[in-house]
Amino acid sequence: MTRTGFRGEILSLAHDPAEAPDALRHEADGLLVVEDGRVLARGAFAELAPRFPGLAVERLEGLIIPGLIDAHVHYPQLDRIASHGAQLLDWLERHIFPAEKAFADPAHAARLAEAFLDELLRHGTTSALVFGTVHAVSVEAFFAAAEARGLRMVCGKVLMDLGPQGLRDSPEEARRESAALIRRWHGRARLTYAVTPRFALTSSDAQLAVAGALLAAHPGVLLHTHLAENPREIAEVAARFTDARDYLDVYDRFGLVTERSVFAHGVHLPDRSCARLAQSGAGIAVCPSSNFFLGSGMFDFVQAERYGVRLGLGSDIGAGTSLSLLHNGGLAYQAGLPSGYALDPLRALWLATGGSARLLHIEHAVGMLAEGQEADFVVLDDKATPLMARRTEGASLAERLFALQVLGDDRAVRRTYVLGQCVWNRDGELQ
Ligand code: GUN
Ligand code: ZN
Repeated sequence: MTRTGFRGEILSLAHDPAEAPDALRHEADGLLVVEDGRVLARGAFAELAPRFPGLAVERLEGLIIPGLIDAHVHYPQLDRIASHGAQLLDWLERHIFPAEKAFADPAHAARLAEAFLDELLRHGTTSALVFGTVHAVSVEAFFAAAEARGLRMVCGKVLMDLGPQGLRDSPEEARRESAALIRRWHGRARLTYAVTPRFALTSSDAQLAVAGALLAAHPGVLLHTHLAENPREIAEVAARFTDARDYLDVYDRFGLVTERSVFAHGVHLPDRSCARLAQSGAGIAVCPSSNFFLGSGMFDFVQAERYGVRLGLGSDIGAGTSLSLLHNGGLAYQAGLPSGYALDPLRALWLATGGSARLLHIEHAVGMLAEGQEADFVVLDDKATPLMARRTEGASLAERLFALQVLGDDRAVRRTYVLGQCVWNRDGELQ
């Protein structure tokens, strides 16, 4: 048994603050007691410390928050971040599909998986819902790398039988390879599988039916895809699926809208879709930096809140412009303003922690830094730059958090811990 104490300012949210006024948990001088990778106890240092005489306590300078959780990201697109193109479909053809073809090579996939995980941890992200490519080996490489680091991750092989040449599977391959990956990886260590049709345009009806059958046959797995992201994509979906009531209905007809479904974007949703999302318990991964970068539009928080749609926050690298969920939280605020929604900084933090955890069905384990949860956490530095130091001097907790979101990024991540072990230390060597 190993037991360690971490002393510092601790902040987390137990619920969505838009729903529960008592969601905030904050200890200005707190103690986190970690035993064998889990939170054994947490509270005010003065009250808790006497219960643990002789405890080795490490003092952490900064703001301790739960490890951030990226609800939508593509690891194979890491090196294609900042690729110049004309909105989604053009960008996919020019940059993304060629890059993804290289993941037929397991050595390439393994190298990128390691680089991606290094970057995630540097940005304070400890869990994510991750797209692989159409190649099963891309998911093998990712899960193997995540398992070796002890990370809680969700990933899946992309289904795309209508994709470009060299990047296509068939409905039968999709079924066979996904089922084999589920058998091998789902529920192993801290890993979860997600059935991952790329989007409606790259799967035949037969393959969407396979996705539905996989979900039905494997009750614990997630469904992960894109929804209503960009105007041209939406027009093409409407032209192909003339019987569907809307984009979400395309997925619904194949049994893909469930409480275990995560849809990236949902920038342009009719009210009917929002009602159906809320009723089913499915969630949206809001990806503001991607939506700005590809000119897709801005997520409508007012509409989502009206229907009670579950939300998390995603970077959507490579369309996103930063892996930082702090930075994406700041952009989510900017995306909300035109439709009259000023995203509260505490709610932005919720989206990137407990909100995403709920979408990924890992909220029993991570996202709140609560007693019994796994000890994945991050130490933020709200004085990471001279200007941030000026802005946060004497500021309230909400102001400091907002400054971290608007001005901060990986520079503001001082340390990242996984299961109580330091895996990123901005200021020095790992212990
Ligand atoms: N829609 C289908 N594929 C993709 C992708 O790789 N990135 C984004 N942003 N949208 C998509
Ligand atoms: Zn995406």
